[in-house]
Amino acid sequence: MSFPNLRLRRLRKTGKIRELLEEVRLSPKDLICPIFVQEDLKSRIQGSSMPGMERLSLADVANEINTIAELKIPAVMVFGIPSHKDEHGTSAFTQNGIVQKTISEIRKNIGNDIAIMADVCLCQYTSSGHCGLVKGDKIDNDSSLETLAKVAVSQAQAGVDVVSPSAMMDGQVKAIRQGLDDAGFSDVAIMSHSAKHRSSLYSPFKDMAHSAPQFGDRKTYQLPYTNPKEAMREVETDIQEGVDIVMIKPALAYLDLISMTREKFNVPIAAYSVSGEYALVKAAAMAGYIDEKEVTLEILTAIKRAGADMIVTYFSKGAAKTLNER
Ligand code: PBG
Ligand code: ZN
Repeated sequence: MSFPNLRLRRLRKTGKIRELLEEVRLSPKDLICPIFVQEDLKSRIQGSSMPGMERLSLADVANEINTIAELKIPAVMVFGIPSHKDEHGTSAFTQNGIVQKTISEIRKNIGNDIAIMADVCLCQYTSSGHCGLVKGDKIDNDSSLETLAKVAVSQAQAGVDVVSPSAMMDGQVKAIRQGLDDAGFSDVAIMSHSAKHRSSLYSPFKDMAHSAPQFGDRKTYQLPYTNPKEAMREVETDIQEGVDIVMIKPALAYLDLISMTREKFNVPIAAYSVSGEYALVKAAAMAGYIDEKEVTLEILTAIKRAGADMIVTYFSKGAAKTLNER
């Protein structure tokens, strides 16, 4: 009988040894917490498609931000739900828009103790529900760029740290960079949804944010999930256009693309764990099939292990709470 001389189990013997050997450590500092703020809302309401996530009123924002900061989460991502939609997406870039007001409110209450990121897109604001402006029966790329740049500048005026374009229009990073620089905001960073896929995992968000397209779908601008090489081209073009942080979205079913990006490019990477990923875990946990806390940490750690430097996740508060308690 010959015994193994290579014994990897030696380093799994006790909790403390295992702690010492941990290669990937998830921290609240890795997380970006999305918030939904709805114009003209009296007080916070639960989202039916995303149990545990709420739509906030402007009056709830200060409180919520303090809770998030106390959990040691360094950043929020603001999504707005406007009262008014039109064909130009006007309420996305007016100075008294819901996102602009939310940004100033956060800054007023907490200064620089949280990084403020905001979504730059038109789908919540256009009557069509599309991420760009509609011309005829098409989503028009180039006229949308001008509007997206205006949205970014209006958010910069309100005090945003990082703008996060999610429209998947070609040239959006370049147009936004130019717009910001021309307006004197060269210190506002861009985290682009670089490889944003057309995914059925976005449904709960569309319900939450009232952003479902009124005709057709987003297949003419979002990436097909069959095309990893094309996804890398999206990342590459954003880098050429001057992006500061690239994003892969969704996250869990796209870990290969996160790790490919990590290998190919020297750029900070965000992963967006989307509403459907949240809903899958929540539903299974609510049915008693899985342990929500444990599964959440496992998934978020895997996203980090794949190469993400930061993760936008609806589990931010829950995961930070669990991590802070350990
Ligand atoms: C819209 C937008 C979407 C998400 C973020 N921004 C929906 C879409 O593209 O249809 C989805 C996020 C999520 O599902 O959590 N620009
Ligand atoms: Zn959009």
